[in-house]
Amino acid sequence: MSSFFSDTSPALVFGGSRGMGAAIVRRLAADGRPVAFTYVSSPAMAAALAAEIEQEGGSAFAIAADSADPEAVRLAIEATVERFGSLGVLVVNAGILIGGTIDRFTIADFDRMAAVNVRGVFAAIHYAAPHLLDGGRIVTIGSNTAERVGSAGSSVYAMTKAAVAQLVRGAALDFAPRQITVNNIQPGPIETDMTADLMEYIVPKLPLGRIGKADEIADLTAWLTGVGAGYMTGESLTIDGGWTA
Ligand SMILES: NC(=O)c1ccc[n+]([C@@H]2O[C@H](COP(=O)([O-])OP(=O)(O)OC[C@H]3O[C@@H](n4cnc5c(N)ncnc54)[C@H](OP(=O)(O)O)[C@@H]3O)[C@@H](O)[C@H]2O)c1
Repeated sequence: MSSFFSDTSPALVFGGSRGMGAAIVRRLAADGRPVAFTYVSSPAMAAALAAEIEQEGGSAFAIAADSADPEAVRLAIEATVERFGSLGVLVVNAGILIGGTIDRFTIADFDRMAAVNVRGVFAAIHYAAPHLLDGGRIVTIGSNTAERVGSAGSSVYAMTKAAVAQLVRGAALDFAPRQITVNNIQPGPIETDMTADLMEYIVPKLPLGRIGKADEIADLTAWLTGVGAGYMTGESLTIDGGWTA
C-alpha cells in the first residue's frame, strides 16, 4: 500500500449504512477506493451494503461503532487501518436530528445530539489524524441550518452543525502543514429516512421545486476527496436547492 495519498487510497465513512452515507460509500468504492464504514442500529443494511460492493469487485467492510462513544470511534479507525494498511480519506457523516423548541427540548436530547453531531466529529478527526496519509482528505457532513435555522424547533440541531463548520475551519489550519484538506458539506433537504416525514413541509419551500438526492451529496464528496481538490480547504459548501440563497 502506497504511503502517498492517491485517488485509490482507502476511505472510512462514519455513518455509512443508510441515506447519504451509503451513497457516499457506494460512490467512493465505485471510484476504486477500499471503503470501511460505521453503523450503529442497522446491522443488516450495513452487511448488505458491504456485500453489494464486494460483489461488484470493490472492497468494503462495516464496523459497529456509535459515534457518541469516542472509544468506539477510535477502534473503528484502528480496524480500518489494520484491514487496509493506510487511511487516505475520512468522511464524517454520522448525525442525528432531534427536533423541538428550546423550552421543550430535554437536556438528555441536547447531550445526545451534541455527543453524536459534535463530539463524534471531533473524535473521528482527532483519532484519524495520526493515521491519515499526508495529502489526505477530511470531509464532514454538516447542514445548511448552520447558515440559516429556517424553522422553529431546529435550534439545537443547527447549533451542532454550526459547531462542525467552525471546527472544520480550525482543522484545516491545523492540518495544512501536512497538505491534508478539511471541508464541510452543508446539505439542505435530501431524500433520506431523516426527512421522510417532512417532505410535505419541505418541498414547497425549495426554490428548485424538488428535494435533493443522496447521490448529489456523494458526487460532491467524491470531488472533494479527489486529488484534484487539493487547493480547497476550510470551506463549508452549501448544497440545498437554493433554500439559503
Ligand atoms: N437528510 C437531510 O435532509 C439532511 C440535511 C442536512 C444535513 N444532513 C446530515 O447528513 C448526515 C446524514 O443524514 P441522512 O439524512 O443520510 O441520515 P439517515 O438517513 O438518518 O442516516 C444516518 C446514518 O448515520 C448513521 N448514524 C446515526 N447515528 C449514528 C451514531 N450514533 N453512530 C454511528 N452512526 C450513526 C446511521 O447508521 P444506523 O442506520 O446504523 O443507525 C446512518 O447510516 C447527518 O449528519 C445529517 O445531520 C441531512
